[in-house]
Amino acid sequence: MISIAFAKLSVPRSGALVIAVPEGDVLAPFAKRIDARAGGQLARAIEAARFKGKKAESASLLAPSGLAVSRIMLVGLGKAETVDALAAEAAGGALVAALATSGDATVSVVVDPVKGAKLGAAEIAAEIAYGAKLRSYRFDRYRTKEKTEKKPTLRRLVVMARNAAAARKAFQPLGKVADGVFLTRDLVSEPPNVLYPATFAEEARKLRDLGLAVEVLGPRQIDRLGMGALLGVAQGSVREPRVVVMRWQRARRAGARPVAFVGKGVTFDTGGISLKPSGGMEDMKWDMGGAGVVTGLMKALAGRRARVNAVGIIGLVENMPSGTAQRPSDIVKTLSGQTVEVLNTDAEGRLVLADLLWYTQRRFKPQFMVNLATLTGAIIVALGHEHAGLFSNNDELAGRLVVAGRATAELVWRLPLAEAYDKKLDSNAADMKNIGGRDAGSITAAQFLQRFVNEVPWAHLDIAGVTWAKKDSATVPKGGTGFGVRLLDSLVTEYYEG
Ligand code: BES
Ligand code: MN
Ligand code: ZN
Repeated sequence: MISIAFAKLSVPRSGALVIAVPEGDVLAPFAKRIDARAGGQLARAIEAARFKGKKAESASLLAPSGLAVSRIMLVGLGKAETVDALAAEAAGGALVAALATSGDATVSVVVDPVKGAKLGAAEIAAEIAYGAKLRSYRFDRYRTKEKTEKKPTLRRLVVMARNAAAARKAFQPLGKVADGVFLTRDLVSEPPNVLYPATFAEEARKLRDLGLAVEVLGPRQIDRLGMGALLGVAQGSVREPRVVVMRWQRARRAGARPVAFVGKGVTFDTGGISLKPSGGMEDMKWDMGGAGVVTGLMKALAGRRARVNAVGIIGLVENMPSGTAQRPSDIVKTLSGQTVEVLNTDAEGRLVLADLLWYTQRRFKPQFMVNLATLTGAIIVALGHEHAGLFSNNDELAGRLVVAGRATAELVWRLPLAEAYDKKLDSNAADMKNIGGRDAGSITAAQFLQRFVNEVPWAHLDIAGVTWAKKDSATVPKGGTGFGVRLLDSLVTEYYEG
């Protein structure tokens, strides 16, 4: 992780120099000055590298004569007319990826105004810094013997723009959102022997320092409330469950109904008695991804002091097989009073969320509820790792989520809900079963959740395909992605802080 600073335009005397340039105009004003200092070497390097300035493209000139910097790197912003926040973030991400282990500790980035762009230079500078910060994330807490050549050397990014103060101001909330994303990535990356319900709840409790109200409910309180479905999942583990409620109250109208975010927090999902195969089971350490996003989002909202009333609710359990575990055919009573025949103990996320959704709408009467869950393998079959699945009972909320997804490159794709799918959940023994058969597995899971939602606008994001990345992308290094924090932060910013 790197520190970020903003400064006026100048020619640095050490470290690496990066110049952000639009496609087709790669010797924009500052680059031309540098080229003159370097006796035309930069122009030759551009030529030799066939550098065009395409989005996130880069080209380097090492040890330029006439300058004290270690290298000059050009990074592309793409065509001027298309330079937007995402393009600038991608450039920031690309420069970090290129220079992380270069040997340089400091990078200075020059941002000239881009003629014809949608953003001014200060905003482009802020977005480059944001993309750079997001891409610089590493989870290396458990590495004790990394070779020095592989360790990042990059510590500090100085973004230079004519109006440094405006850039710094534009970056302020972005930096806070990145801090929320980092918390989510940390939570998702921690191993399940370290991060289990009690320790996750302690991490959430730390958010009190930012002014959030945090309540932690233990097994006795959860039992007294009547969350029989959540407790049924937890009962096979020696790790006690927790339900955490995080509240941020800073709406312009004090009494405004809150927006609510609900997260599945299965700190490890073995499948329970319906045990998963061992190959790939390690992925189930990130089955708390939904809860991780809700926690990171609450940190982001508090960090940037959002003008909103928001509540984040997470259900933390470990799904284990044991002598106390629930059995296929057990019938549990949910908080709503409805009973569920548990035919597959591996369909546990919906059991946890059923109680949380009911609790959330009853206690908080929110404007809307969005839940996030690594809910089904089937959503990966349908959408791969490019979109999260979106299900909703409300077209306006669904539409807003689609827009927020495009704005943040955290894409969502809506799938249907319908009576015919819902029917598949009918049970002979109880009010419903927790599985609907092989077909349309993500949809029947969503239908199950909807049975615990009343009139309130609600959306379910199935993030099983987007919570963990096996390869690097523009602003997301491989590993825990934090997908959902930026999306929902944008939803709040654009529609709920009025
Ligand atoms: N946590 C899993 C879903 C999952 C699978 C997330 C792969 C990420 C990657 C969930 O609890 C689960 O086991 N779902 C079952 C449901 C089935 C038993 C109806 C599934 O998807 O197979
Ligand atoms: Mn499962
Ligand atoms: Zn699960």
